[in-house]
Amino acid sequence: NQIAQITALAGDYIGPEIMAAGQKVLATVAKNQNFDYQITDMPFGGDAIDKTGDPLPQETIDASKNADAILLAAIGGPKWDKAPRRPEQGLLQIRQELNLFANIRPTKITPAMMKFSPLKQEKPVDFVIVRELTSGIYFGTPREKHDEYALDTMRYTRTEIERIARLAFEMASKRRNHVTLVDKANVLDTSKFWREITAEVAQEFPNVTYDQSYVDAASMKIIASPEQFDVILTENLFGDILSDEAAQTTGSLGTIPSMSKGIDGPALYEPIHGSAPDIAGKGIANPFSMVKSVAMMLANSFDRQDLADQIMTGIDVAVERGIVTPDLGGTATTDEVTATIIDAINERRNSYATDNV
Ligand code: NAD
Ligand code: IPM
Ligand code: MN
Repeated sequence: NQIAQITALAGDYIGPEIMAAGQKVLATVAKNQNFDYQITDMPFGGDAIDKTGDPLPQETIDASKNADAILLAAIGGPKWDKAPRRPEQGLLQIRQELNLFANIRPTKITPAMMKFSPLKQEKPVDFVIVRELTSGIYFGTPREKHDEYALDTMRYTRTEIERIARLAFEMASKRRNHVTLVDKANVLDTSKFWREITAEVAQEFPNVTYDQSYVDAASMKIIASPEQFDVILTENLFGDILSDEAAQTTGSLGTIPSMSKGIDGPALYEPIHGSAPDIAGKGIANPFSMVKSVAMMLANSFDRQDLADQIMTGIDVAVERGIVTPDLGGTATTDEVTATIIDAINERRNSYATDNV
């Protein structure tokens, strides 16, 4: 029985608060389940700038590359906004160093969570945004800032589009067989290129329905008719924006996890939100996004869907008991929510054990 090596990057502001929650829940589900793991905490983001002068020190890169999986909470904040290399720079760099080109951001509203949704009608919301993560306008060059003008470059290669499109179709074939490409093909050449290549990839998947939506309309449809989406395939910047919007349909940005993966090597799991400086230090950050990131890690990097399911059920039980943080309208602290999830996991285990005497 091998020991799973997990590198943990807690980061800044609420980062360490929710990382602690995630690790406690991991310890609970792992107990007596034949899942042995070891966590190595490494400095990252503003925390690493304070300790080493660099948001992504070499030792953190090495520890991440050598891990079986990486857990990241959140980085950045006003303290380092003027740093020569900001925390966000470190985040973009680790994605590129590990070639994490695919960012999977699931939005699902469970029946228990439905009461928090700001959507007027109750609809089955269960879709995944497949966001390209290591190219596009985030990384394209030239990139320049002058006194009288500045410029960024949106650039995509055929290879970059093909591999993420294929991943989206493969994912759809294990879900509801529907891919929607979101782009701005009525204006941008990069988007026209995405359409050409994605149409080619679509032919490899005759059982998957394929359509397209312009990004402006797609942002409306996420509110008006989210049930029409299964897998949304999109480029880096559009995926960033649409995933925060999608998250809010669950009631809070603080509920959505993500997985970032490459071809081989460790995947990285992190909430989609940031370090929430406005609520840091108060002990009220919603731990759901981080705890679900742990569940995603167990299912995808360690083939332990069983443990992931226990975590997801634990979250729903906390919701049913009304133990939620203020972003979801509750009064509970991060620790109280985490303790409720842990209790729920343990209670179910005990009742299962009793049922099977
Ligand atoms: P944010 O996502 O940190 O916060 C936006 C709003 O959502 C805030 O009001 C915040 O309180 C709330 N929120 C977010 N997560 C929450 C949680 N778990 N529980 C309760 N409320 C939560 O975005 P921002 O304020 O625009 O950015 C703050 C910093 O985070 C910036 O430096 C930004 O660059 C960085 N950032 C980092 C990541 C990351 O680490 N992956 C992602 C996004 C933003
Ligand atoms: C995210 C964040 C990052 C991004 C920032 C902090 C660089 O917003 O992970 O969604 O834009 O990718
Ligand atoms: Mn974002």
